[in-house]
Amino acid sequence: MPEASSDIGLIGLAVMGQNLALNIADHGFKISVFNRTTSKMEEFVAKHPNTPGGLEGCPTLEEFVASLKRPRKIVILVQAGRATDAVIDGLIPLLDADDIIIDGGNAYWMDTIRREKDLADKGLRFIGSGVSGGEEGARFGPSLMPGGKLSAYEELKPIWEAVAAKVDAETGKPLEGAAPGKPVEGGVPCTAYIGENGAGHYVKMVHNGIEYGDMQMICEAYDLMKNLLGLSAPEMAEIFKKWDDGLLDSFLVEITAEVLAQKDPATGKDFVDIVLDTAGQKGTGKWTSISALDMGVPSPTIAEAVFARCVSAIKEERVAASEILKGPGKKYDGDKDELIQAIHDALYCSKICSYAQGFQLMRAAEGEYNWTLNFGEIAQIWRGGCIIRAGFLQKITDAFDGNPDLANLLLDPYFTKTVTQLEASWRKVVATAVEYGVPVPCFGSALFYFDGYRSARLPQNLLQSQRDFFGAHTYERTDTPRGKFFHIDWPDPA
Ligand code: NAP
Ligand code: ATR
Repeated sequence: MPEASSDIGLIGLAVMGQNLALNIADHGFKISVFNRTTSKMEEFVAKHPNTPGGLEGCPTLEEFVASLKRPRKIVILVQAGRATDAVIDGLIPLLDADDIIIDGGNAYWMDTIRREKDLADKGLRFIGSGVSGGEEGARFGPSLMPGGKLSAYEELKPIWEAVAAKVDAETGKPLEGAAPGKPVEGGVPCTAYIGENGAGHYVKMVHNGIEYGDMQMICEAYDLMKNLLGLSAPEMAEIFKKWDDGLLDSFLVEITAEVLAQKDPATGKDFVDIVLDTAGQKGTGKWTSISALDMGVPSPTIAEAVFARCVSAIKEERVAASEILKGPGKKYDGDKDELIQAIHDALYCSKICSYAQGFQLMRAAEGEYNWTLNFGEIAQIWRGGCIIRAGFLQKITDAFDGNPDLANLLLDPYFTKTVTQLEASWRKVVATAVEYGVPVPCFGSALFYFDGYRSARLPQNLLQSQRDFFGAHTYERTDTPRGKFFHIDWPDPA
């Protein structure tokens, strides 16, 4: 058996596991690695013989566990679900009290709550940590969202803070410049203790839901410019590049500009034009929306982003329907530059609403699962490393730092002022899209959310009346205190 000399171990050497293991070793930590298929582990270790911390390849789980310093810290990066349970079940008999298992996969947060409890009953500690930023993030600095017992996170903290992305303490801007073996030094790490049991995975899931919304809203901006203004992909690449220098500064806008400038290597055509318009999904946006429905939290923009992927997926049906169902068929003849600026404003306002929904969802989950979440800190750790990283997140951190009890982002003075200034353009874009028949489910639902949220009186007085009529469901009155319910004898409609 090897001597117990590794600082940490990692199981699962697919793309994420390999990259995170190299990142950890770059920071001087010795790391043991294990993979179900041993040949992958052997290839990986042979390919990286000289990392600063050192990689120790272990062919068996027994040798892997024996190679770790105590309390053992073991990161699992395998497929979420059954694979994660299988790995945990294999580890349990080999571990000692207080050892720590860290699940870095995209686990369903209720699975994390269950696993944390089961392992605690066995004297083991469990951290469910969201890991965001894909392959590149794992290699050079991900955004890490750990949940579990604080005492367990304290043991992991030096490693998690070292490997996480870093942002500038003053500006909140991501610090770049990492290269293999030369990690970013200094700055604020994009990781922080999120909360008990499933809190980290829940926050990672909401991050993904917000990511769905961001991507769909960018697609809607692209669709409007393409179909109403007839702009080419390279023309739109220039527009997105310009937007990336302003309010919309973000990783997703930056890569959109690059995608739109890309040519297809096979045909030389604009790459985006040869890509089939059907999106898949693996579930985190759906989970976010289901959680919102379960808790009764309005998150329509995130849900619309999921449904937009569903509509895109029925390609053949859409092609057939397009022959039968005709839209307005009008040609846009308004001012081009004015519309481009309005689309920019609509994108920013819709984004504010989508994030407002995501943070309200986390606020509700905090109550539902008895967590204590720091929303300013969550926005801060999304500033670097992850896919939704954006300058805008600093404004969210400032908003929650200024008022930790902020009920809705829209009520923060900066966001109120911005939406008020840009509201007219946003309405114009949604109205124009409706008039010309361009689908903008996220721009539209964000605007309807905004209008609903700012309405002191909604038409549900009529709905309650209908419910009392057909089902004696009772109603509350405007002229009595809340919580008193009434019913009247309705006439027979026959
Ligand atoms: P993956 O394709 O999700 O998982 C492959 C890994 O899981 C391989 O090491 C595989 O071992 C192992 N595995 C599968 N079934 C197993 C089982 N029953 N027992 C033991 N090991 C098993 O890899 P990934 O894309 O690197 O993602 C890893 C995790 O990170 C996932 O939970 C994913 O959702 C999450 N994640 C991924 C990304 C991303 O951008 N890809 C970003 C953030 C988080 P073998 O080699 O033996 O098949
Ligand atoms: P990131 O935060 O870097 O986006 P991620 O959440 O793993 O990391 O996202 C990478 C992709 O993994 C996501 O785009 C997601 O795919 P979908 O957009 O199609 O849902 C995918 N993903 C999310 N949850 C997953 C899961 N439980 N198992 C496998 N893949 C998943």
